[in-house]
Amino acid sequence: MGWLCRRAKRGLWRCIVALPPLWIFLCAVHLLPDDLMFESKSLPRQPLILYWTKFYDNDFNRRQHLYQEAVRGLRNCPLNNCVITGNRSLLNQSSAVIFHVRDMRWDILPAYRDPQQYYVFHLLESPPHTVTSLASLAPGFFNLTFTYRLDSDIVANSYFQHYKPPMWTDWSSFEETWRVKTKLAVAFVSNCITPSRRNLVLEELREYIAIDVYGKCGPLKCNPTSTKKKAACNGLVSTYKFFLAFENSVCRDYVTEKIHRAYAQNTVPVVLGGANYTALFPPNSFINIRDFPSAKALAEHLLFLSTNSAAYQTYFEWKLNPVYATLPSALHERQISWCKLCQIINEPERKRMIKWNLEEWWHTMGQCIQPLVSVLPEGKLRWVWLPQTSPPAPQVLHL
Ligand SMILES: *[C@@H]1O[C@H](CO)[C@@H](O)[C@H](O)[C@H]1NC(C)=O
Ligand SMILES: *[C@@H]1O[C@H](CO)[C@@H](O)[C@H](O)[C@H]1NC(C)=O
Ligand SMILES: *[C@@H]1O[C@H](CO)[C@@H](O)[C@H](O)[C@H]1NC(C)=O
Ligand SMILES: *[C@@H]1O[C@H](CO)[C@@H](O)[C@H](O)[C@H]1NC(C)=O
Repeated sequence: MGWLCRRAKRGLWRCIVALPPLWIFLCAVHLLPDDLMFESKSLPRQPLILYWTKFYDNDFNRRQHLYQEAVRGLRNCPLNNCVITGNRSLLNQSSAVIFHVRDMRWDILPAYRDPQQYYVFHLLESPPHTVTSLASLAPGFFNLTFTYRLDSDIVANSYFQHYKPPMWTDWSSFEETWRVKTKLAVAFVSNCITPSRRNLVLEELREYIAIDVYGKCGPLKCNPTSTKKKAACNGLVSTYKFFLAFENSVCRDYVTEKIHRAYAQNTVPVVLGGANYTALFPPNSFINIRDFPSAKALAEHLLFLSTNSAAYQTYFEWKLNPVYATLPSALHERQISWCKLCQIINEPERKRMIKWNLEEWWHTMGQCIQPLVSVLPEGKLRWVWLPQTSPPAPQVLHL
């Protein structure tokens, strides 16, 4: 209902500002319920998307942040006639049925499947955190993929869409940025032992440089329990020269909001992850640990930059180029995610799409790398720093 009201409000606004000859037409179009609008023009019914499962154990309804994000996303699409619901009674009217695979219960599946419907495979986390086994999945159960992977039918951009990095018009902004950066490096970590073993990288780096560790895995706390506290935690980030944006797993295309937290606070991200950062983020805007042969070499580079403002400044050149005002430029909100799904279900001819082997697509082609760990004589674990290697070429699969 809130959705309809907002739509009607927008409609009303247009009615007021529109020129008189347009007035009757715009009002008629915008204030009619959409169903009626389509019926009267004998166009197809309003495309409906049904979110079948829960999302992280929460019902998919108005209070759910993913629901709000989807509604907002759909409303701002070039083609904005799609509606999303979590109401299972609307199954037969739905053009697409989404399953958050992590929350999937194999005993609660739709009782009836319309051959024209798309079943959508939805996941936002990396394969090691997917929980549900895909091996038990009936081959061909899904028609479309909707994940963070760039080779998904619908690329999810949940980690990106709210971030618009502050851009600069000239170098005077750098002066202020540099002035407040009194500390070297910070990390926010809440998951201590992860597949990427980022804890080992942190430990080793701390032998050379000062790193403040916030969150469950460090001594420092900054809990963003309120808007004010959240702003304070973010402000804290801007007082550091480097933000360690280490992902919990090293998988193809997997990059989360951490890197944006750094960009948003004018702090240089130091990244550890499996995404092709060069393809996704502005040139010379981050430091990738894969470009360094050892923790010592990385630490030395960070120390050098921290005492040389001219060298540090080169990591901000992109901020003067408006091309990078939305991050990452390759993933434009209006072409991917909810808009892409809406576009697919609006096609007059339903394309036949079947995914035969999602276990292989998700796990094998997800290319998660388990970093090597060695044991030092005194029993300490060490992350093995290897020269950068390119990930294996993706295999061609018939999905
Ligand atoms: C779900 O949809 C059905 C059919 O339109 C409707 O009768 C019912 O009230 C809806 N349930 C909720 C919780 O909105
Ligand atoms: C959906 O349609 C099928 C086939 O017409 C019917 O058997 C089933 O009861 C319908 N389900 C709902 C929830 O309306
Ligand atoms: C990463 O992206 C860049 C720029 O698009 C491309 O030139 C490079 O080959 C990619 N690297 C890998 C390992 O795919
Ligand atoms: C979706 O997949 C099912 C099961 O494989 C298939 O029967 C159906 O034709 C597919 N639907 C579309 C629209 O491709």
